[in-house]
Amino acid sequence: MNLAVFVSGRGSNLNAILSNLELKNKVQVKVVISDKKKCGAFEIAAENSLPAYSVSEKNNQGYISFHDVTKLLVDLEVDLIVLAGFLKLIPDELIKTFKNRIINIHPALLPLFGGKGMYGMNVHKAVFESGMKISGATVHFVDEIFDNGKIITQRCVDISTVDSPEEIAQKVLSVEHQILPYVLGKFADKKIKLSDDRVLIEV
Ligand code: GAR
Repeated sequence: MNLAVFVSGRGSNLNAILSNLELKNKVQVKVVISDKKKCGAFEIAAENSLPAYSVSEKNNQGYISFHDVTKLLVDLEVDLIVLAGFLKLIPDELIKTFKNRIINIHPALLPLFGGKGMYGMNVHKAVFESGMKISGATVHFVDEIFDNGKIITQRCVDISTVDSPEEIAQKVLSVEHQILPYVLGKFADKKIKLSDDRVLIEV
């Protein structure tokens, strides 16, 4: 299964995909796309000799447009797009071209703590301030609205004894690194089924 991984930051989820032994003969990362010119994830892409492109709608030098990204991914025969810490809204053309073939990892238990502006530490601060005793990570399909598509899988972490949002972030990140490769393995094995309002994962 061919993947395109979209990133904005340090790239630890990209690294979790690339270093997962069970995924080695199931998935291939064909390209890494970022809204940034430089980021940790691009360094990981370079270390793994993966092509990487920066995307922007503003015609900035050194960036390509989302329209060109769409064409590139079709040319590369990408099967699934993985948003691994990508912070921009995905435009309609890309959503339509890759209908039900774009997934995102979110660092909280959706539908709580999602939506515009809810990314990275903003999420963990909101969870900490809410007083909730559990948080977790969600992998979901991507549609036109931030953090709105159908939930594929979730995993909880106990945060009843944490002292800071940073501690929540650390706990959640470690389950992100487990559930994202798990879901990709299930996609590669064609074990993810979309029914009207739920996603089923076959064992
Ligand atoms: C991850 O925690 C991911 O869940 C989050 O950004 C981080 C990226 O880390 N994504 C969002 O907040 C999207 N709303 P990484 O670059 O180390 O993979």
